[in-house]
Amino acid sequence: MNIANAVVLVTGANRGLGRALVVASLEAGAKLVYAGARDTSQLRDLAGQHDKIVPLELDITSAASVAAAAARAQDVTLLVNNAGVLAAYGVLTSTPAELEADFATNFFGTLAMTKAFLPVLERADRAAIVNVLSVVSFASMPALGGYSAAKAASFSATQALRKDLAKRTISVHGVFPGPIDTDMVRQIEMPKTSPAVVAEAIIDGVEAGLEEILPDPTSRQMFDVWKRDPKALERQFASM
Ligand SMILES: NC(=O)c1ccc[n+]([C@@H]2O[C@H](COP(=O)([O-])OP(=O)(O)OC[C@H]3O[C@@H](n4cnc5c(N)ncnc54)[C@H](OP(=O)(O)O)[C@@H]3O)[C@@H](O)[C@H]2O)c1
Repeated sequence: MNIANAVVLVTGANRGLGRALVVASLEAGAKLVYAGARDTSQLRDLAGQHDKIVPLELDITSAASVAAAAARAQDVTLLVNNAGVLAAYGVLTSTPAELEADFATNFFGTLAMTKAFLPVLERADRAAIVNVLSVVSFASMPALGGYSAAKAASFSATQALRKDLAKRTISVHGVFPGPIDTDMVRQIEMPKTSPAVVAEAIIDGVEAGLEEILPDPTSRQMFDVWKRDPKALERQFASM
């Protein structure tokens, strides 16, 4: 799918990777970008820089908010499900509320967005859905066990959608980043890729029609391990 002239919606656009995806979409020639955020006042400086950015109030865990966004943004052709949380760490040490928070956003909220926007996407000649997952969708990183489980579930749903939507001219892309330099992993010391580099790779991947987008060197290296030997990636993550 060409981003030039696409109408893009990015969830979680007020900071981190989402913000970079808004900028990268415009740089690739998007006609309009809806910037979804729970608190749209956090979009003021970004929207002030470009007249093609439309702030959109959106909490993906609220059915009413998702329905209102779908009613308003009727011309979307590229839905980027970027919003995510890292609330649950170890599966045994996390509380039920932390585990539920990860699934509410990373799995149920992401799926709810896709379902709500399907009638809109179906009207376009060509449309695409991008789900921002993680390398921990491939194998659990036990230190982030709850988050890994939610991202693995979302990976599974992404594969299911690809088949379900194949006849409807809607392509479905999964993105599997390694560590990105954003608030989400601010306190974790490790090499990270800048959100701008990751965002650009995601846009390139969508344009190239890639079903699995590996947007940084760490994700590509881990994907290679997983392809060769899934148990090796499981062991590598367990040692972290
Ligand atoms: N950072 C990494 O190392 C890394 C690696 C692999 C994958 N990812 C994935 O990349 C995506 C972007 O993460 P990030 O690194 O940019 O994290 P971030 O800086 O923490 O930003 C998360 C974004 O998601 C939004 N969000 C959270 N819950 C939401 C909800 N219920 N409704 C709407 N928006 C919501 C946040 O909005 P508020 O400001 O309102 O909280 C924020 O804009 C996520 O899906 C994450 O899982 C990140």
